[in-house]
Parts: sequence; structure tokens; C-alpha cells
Amino acid sequence: MKCWFAAPQPICEPGRIADADDLAALHAIAFRHGWPAAEMEALIADPSVLVVVAREGRTPFTRRPVGFVMVRAAADEAEVLTLAVAPRRRGRGIGRLMMDEMIRRLYFLRVGALFLEVDEGNGAARALYQRLGFREVGRRPNYYGGSGGSTANALVMRADLK
Ligand SMILES: CC(C)(COP(=O)(O)OP(=O)(O)OC[C@H]1O[C@@H](n2cnc3c(N)ncnc32)[C@H](O)[C@@H]1OP(=O)(O)O)[C@@H](O)C(=O)NCCC(=O)NCCS
Repeated sequence: MKCWFAAPQPICEPGRIADADDLAALHAIAFRHGWPAAEMEALIADPSVLVVVAREGRTPFTRRPVGFVMVRAAADEAEVLTLAVAPRRRGRGIGRLMMDEMIRRLYFLRVGALFLEVDEGNGAARALYQRLGFREVGRRPNYYGGSGGSTANALVMRADLK
């Protein structure tokens, strides 16, 4: 039986300046070092930065961001600046949906390669990137600082889009 009360599927849209507070809040939950809303605003307004936001809600007026990805493009290469999904919405394909949409946009902008850095111990992110066709092209030992002086390696990954 179809459940008429089930939440509608999220939709992916470009980020707007008005999203800055929501994106800063999503980022603060996902990462140790938050980005203030003013920084988010500057990134959204930057013409070299592409922002895809996943929104959930029944109407355009009630839709709220549940995830976002930001990419900086320069010539025919681009780099993922950040990617986050609200903790209670993870594991439902939203990260994949947003990355697919971002890659589609980059493809139409004739961007040939997309790079990113990921914590070697971040299994969820690595699984997602592997599914999307990223491959490891470098490693930065002790790149991320953790609590109590601990460190973690960063993997540099690349996906060819053409
Ligand atoms: C990484 C993150 C964005 C993934 O978003 P998500 O919406 O949960 O991911 P999805 O549900 O789209 O999953 C995508 C794929 O990764 C796999 N995956 C997701 N979470 C996983 C986990 N914890 N363990 C193993 N595989 C996982 C899924 O199986 C899926 O594969 P499939 O398409 O073959 O089914 C999310 O976990 C997050 O916000 N983490 C905190 C912030 C972060 O680490 N960002 C990345 C920084 S580089």
C-alpha cells in the first residue's frame, strides 16, 4: 500500500545566498572546523564556486536543505571544497544524488577532472567516491589534526569526467 505520508524525495537545486545559515549549520554538525555563515555566503556568491543543495519538503516554501556540496572550478579542473548530509538523512542516497548532479553540471561546463581530499578513515565518504569512479592519486600523511594531538592521513582522489 502506498504511504501518502512518506516524505517526498529530495530535490537538487543550486545554492542561494539565503541558504547560508542552513549550510553553515549542516557543515558545523559534519566537521570539527565549522565555516561561519558569512563565509558560506561569500562562497555561494563566488562565480567560480558551484553549489548543489538537496532540499526536502512538500512545497517550495517548506523545503529545507538536508545536504550540500560545494566545488571550485578553474579552467578544466575542479575541486570539491565540502560535502555534507544531515546525520539523520545519511545512507539514503542523498550524497550520491548531489554528487551526480554536480558532476552533470561540471560536464556541461567542460570540466575534465574533479579532485578531492578525504580522510583515509572516512569509510562512508570513501565508499561514495569509489562508487562515483574516483581513484586515489596521492596521499598526505598526518594532514588532518584530531583531538588530543592525533592526526589522520588525507587521500587525494581524482575522477575523470570526459
Ligand atoms: C559522506 C556523506 C556525504 C555520504 O552521504 P550519504 O547521503 O550518507 O551517502 P549515500 O547514501 O548517497 O551513499 C552513497 C554510497 O556510499 C555508500 N555508503 C554510504 N555510507 C556508507 C557507510 N557508512 N559505510 C559504507 N558505505 C557507505 C552507500 O552504500 C552508497 O553506495 P551505493 O550507491 O552503491 O548504494 C555523509 O556520510 C556525510 O555527510 N558525512 C559527514 C561529512 C563528510 O564526511 N563529508 C565528506 C568529506 S570528504
